[in-house]
Amino acid sequence: MQPVNLFELEPLAREKLSPLAWDYYIGGAEDEHSLVENREAFRRLKLRPRVVADVPERDLTVELFGQRLSLPVLLAPTSHQRLAHPDAEIATARAAAAAGTLTTLGTGNHYSVEEVLAAAPHPFLFQIYCYESREITERIVRRAEAAGARALVVTVDATFAPRRERHLRNGFMLPPEVELRNLVGVGLQDHLLQPEHGGMEAFIASLRQLLLTWDEIDWLRSITATPIVLKGVMTAEDAVLAAEHGMDGIIVSNHGGRQIDGTLATIDALPEIADAVGGRIEILMDSGIRRGTDVLKALALGAKATLIGRPYLWGLTLHGEAGVRMVIEMLRDEISSAMGQLGVADVKRIDRSLVR
Ligand code: FNR
Repeated sequence: MQPVNLFELEPLAREKLSPLAWDYYIGGAEDEHSLVENREAFRRLKLRPRVVADVPERDLTVELFGQRLSLPVLLAPTSHQRLAHPDAEIATARAAAAAGTLTTLGTGNHYSVEEVLAAAPHPFLFQIYCYESREITERIVRRAEAAGARALVVTVDATFAPRRERHLRNGFMLPPEVELRNLVGVGLQDHLLQPEHGGMEAFIASLRQLLLTWDEIDWLRSITATPIVLKGVMTAEDAVLAAEHGMDGIIVSNHGGRQIDGTLATIDALPEIADAVGGRIEILMDSGIRRGTDVLKALALGAKATLIGRPYLWGLTLHGEAGVRMVIEMLRDEISSAMGQLGVADVKRIDRSLVR
């Protein structure tokens, strides 16, 4: 049967993935309460349709970091896409380009940013962690910039390792075909990648995160003019600090429930953040987006655009580039249909009156 929505892709992808890959993709931290809450909160939030509205055309476009997107949905950074499909980030980037949106490449990619760009020349965002030293971080930043990154996405909710109990139980390890090519040649311990020195497993074990403080963020701001977006902000206090420290944007995110468990759903964290930021910097949000109406609810509560994680991994698993494209097009159809029914002509003009 042809899947007709994002939820229906999940069991189909599960059949194709190894149990280890499935647990890695689907899982959250500890009791997975944040993971569930991300969905429940969308269900609690109700729409207020305006009927008899004159909306023959619906405008789904938004502009972000100088780039016009055909819909307010981007692809979030996800590590180890090679577990889903051999084309990994190349397939994802091609699908994003064809659909007129942006993917987020990054440190967890199998293919290097240069390889992806050669195969899919299109603007992109680049996600970084800060490893070991400022020298290494700066080399990763320069590499992303040389390839043309529109913005640097600094993940701020993953400096400390989460407790993902599925991994503890099943002893998650990367299969040998999965690599991290963006981390090669930047001053990390590349020699460990040789099989006689332990291979990828030894290399990953050697990665040490730099303690991310506002000093590090200030330093990062001082070395680059590329827009910086902090990913993983969940409070008004941190959103205000991000603006004060010269950030260009934030992604309101609980990492899809994969880091600290027991947080608010991101859709519930969004209003206080939007109020506090007051339009000073760009606000994006992710975690739990599965329906076009979820995207519209996020826009109503203050996000300019949203990102999806797991759903495009299911598409990638099933059909590579075409599967990722299918996921984006399903969302586009749902957004457009919902806009008509809600009396919304332009996603840029959505405000809080759309929801209760
Ligand atoms: C992620 N996410 C993530 N985020 C990040 O900043 N760096 C990373 O390397 C990863 N890796 C990663 C792997 C996998 C398998 C998943 C599912 C997620 C988090 C991701 O960017 C995003 O915040 C969430 O996926 C959004 O939630 P949904 O859409 O999956 O519910």
